Amino acid sequence: MSEDDHYRWLRDLLFLLPSEVSHDLTLRALRLPRPFGLFRTDPQSVGTRKRVMGLFFPNPIGLAAGLDKNGICVDGLGGLGFGFLELGTVTPRPQPGNPRPRLFRLRSEEALINRMGFNNRGVDYLVKQVMRARYAGIVGINIGKNKDTPQDRAVDDYLYCLQRVYGVADYVTVNLSSPNTPGLRALQFGEAFESLLSAIVSERERLSDVNDKRVPLAVKLAPDLEPDDVRRIGDTLVARGVDAAVATNTTLSREGVNPRRRKQSGGLSGRPLLERSTSVLALLREHVGDALALIGVGGVMDAEGARAKVEAGADLIQIYTGFVYRGPELIREAAGAFEPES
Ligand SMILES: Cc1cc2nc3c(=O)[nH]c(=O)nc-3n(C[C@H](O)[C@H](O)[C@H](O)COP(=O)(O)O)c2cc1C
Repeated sequence: MSEDDHYRWLRDLLFLLPSEVSHDLTLRALRLPRPFGLFRTDPQSVGTRKRVMGLFFPNPIGLAAGLDKNGICVDGLGGLGFGFLELGTVTPRPQPGNPRPRLFRLRSEEALINRMGFNNRGVDYLVKQVMRARYAGIVGINIGKNKDTPQDRAVDDYLYCLQRVYGVADYVTVNLSSPNTPGLRALQFGEAFESLLSAIVSERERLSDVNDKRVPLAVKLAPDLEPDDVRRIGDTLVARGVDAAVATNTTLSREGVNPRRRKQSGGLSGRPLLERSTSVLALLREHVGDALALIGVGGVMDAEGARAKVEAGADLIQIYTGFVYRGPELIREAAGAFEPES
């Protein structure tokens, strides 16, 4: 049996369980030295090396945020061949997230709906895990706010997390786009957005002097933005000196989902998200040119989806739902969408 067959066999077994139970089991297995005795791929052997945000990525395919929120499987996931891992979202204090069930499989749509709500063990726990890891790829850390932090104090949470992760992160993503933390997406607009970004960027400048290390900053956006908002956000990111945008998070739309399976609230990911998230990515690239690095994420389930992201202007790609449905074979397949760097 090939590794792909092994994955399909395992996946069909895991899909018999409720979504979050199989998620937890998979993470446990990935903590073993050689998960299931299988799946060991050197990230350097998958696709070509890329330099983005001043960092060398052993290959351009990464794991999107939310799968390893606490950084407990860095070596296990890295060993599957990812060129980079985005850990988190992490918040200053531990929090339980929303009540279960909060993760739903929509198998015929190759999609997921989740309303996890940033369940995580807090930033200090994550930092300890990253310090222990030996993974040689790039580690990004995605930061957010606690649910019970008032909206007008959100900036304190982001600054706290930035300070804590600064020494161990290769890059930091500021998450302003999860639909499951009330008010979070509002931080993408108006005065709240401007003042949050300016505070984060100045703190990064201070930390880079203190640490003698400049950590690139990325901002993760929602796919449900109007084109004018995407352009305005792009302008602000460039003007403030942010390094990258991650486009996109999950959507509140239920386009492409069978009406009978639309009822769960939360963010939709996977195949139905491809077009919407890719159009945000394309618009950003068209508007900002080369002034920002762009990480394309949303609905990459196969080589064709990865090519759509590259054509829209992605420098790097992340996968989450496609990884759940297709397993590690998708990493190599998606990497094939990038031309070797000259
Ligand atoms: C169960 C689940 C949890 C997620 N948690 C986070 C998170 O904590 N932070 C974040 O920025 N994105 C989170 N995401 C969004 C993914 O990182 C990604 O942006 C989105 O799922 C679209 O990519 P995909 O279609 O490849 O899954 C989560 C997605 C899923 C399915």
